[in-house]
Amino acid sequence: MGAVEVLKDIYWVGALDWNVRDFHGYITYKGTTYNAYLILDEKVTLFDTVKEPFRGDLLHHIRQVVDPQRIDYLVVNHVEPDHSGALPHLVEVVRPEKIICSPMGHKALLEHYHKEDWPYEVVKTGQSLSLGKRSVQFVETRMLHWPDSMFSYIPEERLLISSDAFGQHWCTSERFDDEVDQSELMMHAAKYYANILLLYSPLVKKLLSNVQEMGLKIDMIAPDHGLIWRGDPAKIVEAYARWAEQRPARKAVVVYDTMWKSTEKMAKAVASGLMKEGISVKVFDLKANHRSDVMTEVLDAGAVLVGSSTLNNGVLPNVADLLHYMKGLRPQNKIGAAFGSYGWSGEAVKLINQTLQDMKVELVDEGVRAKYMPDHEALRPCVELGRKVGRMLKTSLGEGEDG
Ligand code: FEO
Repeated sequence: MGAVEVLKDIYWVGALDWNVRDFHGYITYKGTTYNAYLILDEKVTLFDTVKEPFRGDLLHHIRQVVDPQRIDYLVVNHVEPDHSGALPHLVEVVRPEKIICSPMGHKALLEHYHKEDWPYEVVKTGQSLSLGKRSVQFVETRMLHWPDSMFSYIPEERLLISSDAFGQHWCTSERFDDEVDQSELMMHAAKYYANILLLYSPLVKKLLSNVQEMGLKIDMIAPDHGLIWRGDPAKIVEAYARWAEQRPARKAVVVYDTMWKSTEKMAKAVASGLMKEGISVKVFDLKANHRSDVMTEVLDAGAVLVGSSTLNNGVLPNVADLLHYMKGLRPQNKIGAAFGSYGWSGEAVKLINQTLQDMKVELVDEGVRAKYMPDHEALRPCVELGRKVGRMLKTSLGEGEDG
């Protein structure tokens, strides 16, 4: 792929990574992109770079548009190495007049690359920089999702260069939202939100309201990963507002691991109880499903039910992994319950309950345990657990028992 003109004299010059599969614990089945944007104006300006191994792709794309040595300003919206990894090499090649970053970005750049002599220019929210015909307004977006993160807004183009926000880990030959399948696009955007931004939802709400107050007119959102929102930028802003609210849907996630299929039988029985109550259910065996895919479904689920056999007085390792990961992302407004089979000690249900309570998940029930292999009778309480959770979910949604 070559450089792509996204607006007159504004180019995507980033890199396609078709093969990355692990993004610190998030599985990226379809790769990702590292987006960088080049504006040709009186001051030629590059916004962000790429992951270090892709620096050749970045320079190749820049050279298709302009001699890299003609670049005047490098804007660092985010210091995480997937966007600044190529920066030291770019600085060598470009010899920029200015490296523009937020106050926390300055600190983070020094702590990453240890270059005191780079020509830093620190900008804060509300500051503006002229490029010639265009200008850049900076908006610090601290903790979305690093302390250094910021947006660059080009008012003359109504263009928001949004760093990680509004991105998707999805590598495509297309560059714009209106060129791809919408349901797949929104699935990747939701997965990205659920696995990267969920715990910062209160800050997302605040940021969206600040952006509204600032009166930024936005025709295009250019994130640092995935597709550029050109056809319908409001769609992703509205989705972020919805996801940040964490309003529960009439939906439950049943997630488990099992040693000898007893807990799996219980999971199926729990799911059948939920379905009898008219709840939409997603069932995940953790041997076959990745934690980040489970989190994508947890995002709008009203109930989370976790099952594990007891192993060595604890839960199975896959369940411990999921609970640890989910706790870090701090999902809100969920009800839940635990279930699991055991042979003699049977601590798993109690341990799951503890973690769910630590996560502020409202427990509907003390949970269901079944000894060794549950028979039809032993599975009845599991069906009832599903029904009970389903009824409570409907009540909490204001739907009533038959709603
Ligand atoms: Fe895509 Fe926070 O880096």
